[in-house]
Amino acid sequence: MTRYLITSALPYINGVKHLGNLVGSMLPADLYSRYRRAKGDETLFICATDEHGTPAELAALEAGQDVATYCAEQHAIQKTLGEGFGLSWDYFGRSSSPQNAALTQHLARVLWQNGHLEVRTTKQVYSHAEKRFLPDRYVIGTCPHCGYDRARGDQCENCTRVLDPTDLINPRSALSGSPEIEIRDSAHLFLKQSNFVEQLRTWIDSHEHDWPDLVLSIARKWLDEGLNDRGITRDLEWGIPVPEDIGDGQLKGKVFYVWFDAPIEYIGATKELTDSKGLPDAEWQKWWRPENAKDVTYLEFMAKDNVPFHTVGFPITIMGSGENWKLVDRIKGFNWLTYYGGKFSTSQKRGVFMNTALDLLPADYWRWWLMANAPESADSSFTWEHFAAVVNKDLADVLGNFVNRVTKFTVSRFDGKVPGEGEYGDEEKALIADLDKRVAQYAAYLEDIEYRKALAELRAIWVAGNEYLTKAAPWTHVKTDRVKAAVGVRMGLNLVHLFGHLSWPVIPAAAKKIHEAIQSAPEIIPWPDQPMAAFLDQLEAGQAVTPPDMLFAKITDEQLAEWKTRFGGEG
Ligand code: MF3
Ligand code: ZN
Repeated sequence: MTRYLITSALPYINGVKHLGNLVGSMLPADLYSRYRRAKGDETLFICATDEHGTPAELAALEAGQDVATYCAEQHAIQKTLGEGFGLSWDYFGRSSSPQNAALTQHLARVLWQNGHLEVRTTKQVYSHAEKRFLPDRYVIGTCPHCGYDRARGDQCENCTRVLDPTDLINPRSALSGSPEIEIRDSAHLFLKQSNFVEQLRTWIDSHEHDWPDLVLSIARKWLDEGLNDRGITRDLEWGIPVPEDIGDGQLKGKVFYVWFDAPIEYIGATKELTDSKGLPDAEWQKWWRPENAKDVTYLEFMAKDNVPFHTVGFPITIMGSGENWKLVDRIKGFNWLTYYGGKFSTSQKRGVFMNTALDLLPADYWRWWLMANAPESADSSFTWEHFAAVVNKDLADVLGNFVNRVTKFTVSRFDGKVPGEGEYGDEEKALIADLDKRVAQYAAYLEDIEYRKALAELRAIWVAGNEYLTKAAPWTHVKTDRVKAAVGVRMGLNLVHLFGHLSWPVIPAAAKKIHEAIQSAPEIIPWPDQPMAAFLDQLEAGQAVTPPDMLFAKITDEQLAEWKTRFGGEG
């Protein structure tokens, strides 16, 4: 039996994440982790904040805090919000942890010893006003091609031409506006990625059948374009220091590039977890350096812009180490979620952010819409109209109403107890046969990580329950044929119980409430692995049933209008 290691791309530290960030990594990783745990598999779900790099430094500057304080505060905020969304990570670490520093330095050291790193002199922009090196994009000036006077040193926003800071006319610091800048030589470490082209291609080809097309095509595009050697250090203060024994003493005061250390934090966070429990190293190593690679199945979840770093960058670090670190087995990549067809934007505060979302509605409303409309084969668009329509129909009408009707009727007509009279007849048997197929299909979609299809199937299961109940019509029969009504109610309650189990990976809080209406709910609600004939005949006659409080409230026209005005409706 294999163990499941699941990682979500690490959210940047610089502020609260929006729904687009959530849908492309953390939430789908959570759903899959919950499914594995429900199936009884040994599962480890790891996430962390990505805390290094210029964006973190600048965000701290803007907040008027030193970087370490800023990161500690923002980490706590993101952790609380993630928990609010029901993200069931086993550990939410920090890429600035000592564990990650040690692992990053170790991997760089073995890459150096294996001859995969070399020191090269590069030209960097130094700003006297800030007494620091500036990344290309923080140098601005006049574009030599179109005359735009706020062109960035990496690219002109106006004419889109790719630039070098030295191309700019009247260059200055974007931070202070100071023109006191100069080009200085600076030594940096380069990872010789070209050494790995063959090995990478063989590895990627071996996943021809188990990686989605989106991921394969992005990975191959990079290989086909030829792999450039990659600078893995930066002239910054904040970051993991390059150890003295790497680079023949030429790299004093440099730190690793954020994209070098961030994926290593998947491992780092696992060690943070075991260290926090006082467990020996063997406990994190069993996930990352298993005796046999097949003992662990490793899955990564991310948005498509992260795919190159996970199919090329991080694997080269692992391969180049020559050590037996676990390589990823499956990668699930997502397209973009848009806000009314436009970009969600952290810098422009456009769209819905995790904190405001939870202020409006409980997590399950968002979880359901986001996963049912996940940007899998193409981008998908968030609109308040669509969100409200889906919540009102799927969650309130189809699921909520079903649970409500059956449990309330049990109270009003059957003394709040599961009725034991009568036997299942043809209608129940037909339903059972249909559900055997549908539950298997739902599980198959979850195994394939096809969430839109999976959730469409789950919705179809709820609908099948509703249709059965409408036909069985116990409220009609109760006056004339109490046994027939009892059979309908008993099946209805068993269906409620089934829905509680099947819905748990997606909408865990509601699933728990549903399950509790029938019987007490365990922390992990297990997958119903028996045939439906057994599962749907499980509730003991006489067992108490308590209707849950309102499971899902409908979104009203007033709320819809208010949210559209408040958040900007038309993109
Ligand atoms: N912080 C990056 C982003 O939001 C993702 C980092 S993923 C990891 O795009 F590989 F670094 F872990
Ligand atoms: Zn230009």
